[in-house]
Amino acid sequence: MINFLGTPTLETDRLILRRIVLEDAESIFDHWLSDDRVMDNLIKGAHKSLSETVERVKEVVSNYDSQEFCYWGMELKENGKLIGAIDLFNFDQVTENCEVGYLMGYQWWNKGYGTEALKTVIEFGFRDMNIHKISAAHNTDNPASGRIMEKVGMKQEGTIKHMIRNAKNHYKDCAVYGLLQEDYLKM
Ligand SMILES: CC(C)(COP(=O)(O)OP(=O)(O)OC[C@H]1O[C@@H](n2cnc3c(N)ncnc32)[C@H](O)[C@@H]1OP(=O)(O)O)[C@@H](O)C(=O)NCCC(=O)NCCS
Repeated sequence: MINFLGTPTLETDRLILRRIVLEDAESIFDHWLSDDRVMDNLIKGAHKSLSETVERVKEVVSNYDSQEFCYWGMELKENGKLIGAIDLFNFDQVTENCEVGYLMGYQWWNKGYGTEALKTVIEFGFRDMNIHKISAAHNTDNPASGRIMEKVGMKQEGTIKHMIRNAKNHYKDCAVYGLLQEDYLKM
């Protein structure tokens, strides 16, 4: 059975993974949600106005009432800046599988933060929540995302053509990755 624990604060070497709060909305808008360079890699496009982000943050914050909601902001220990977000979602009660998603502000890419956050959330998912399998998919034109999956031990299981159609109306092929709890615990 999945052991739902809500969104507890987690720590990595350089990051605090914590619940986001309404006061984070401006940072979230400025650092990633308004930035095409970040959002072009996801299904939903960039936000055009801060009010859109405020609504999204309100939705996330209200979901924290549920123990089955796992959504962390990534806060840099060195200066308290909120640089990204990571979540576990699509929990399936039958298979006990879920998916992981993440995104970070452009200025913080390629500094190892994504790998650090993913490693910690995967560890939490398998060891504390007892998830059976964690999966993720990335657009094939976004190899950095696949690289961080590989670095935490996820394996590519295939490529699905035109798996998504993004906000700019472009179809994207996606590489699908997964990791079983039993394989993770042997690593
Ligand atoms: C995906 C993302 C979270 C990665 O975070 P990050 O902090 O930059 O990742 P890291 O620095 O830990 O690792 C990035 C790795 O990708 C590699 N990489 C970067 N650009 C690459 C490219 N064009 N081709 C191949 N590898 C690439 C880096 O070299 C690094 O690997 P290495 O440590 O072996 O050198 C970040 O790029 C991001 O937010 N992208 C936009 C949103 C997004 O794509 N979300 C995921 C949707 S599936």
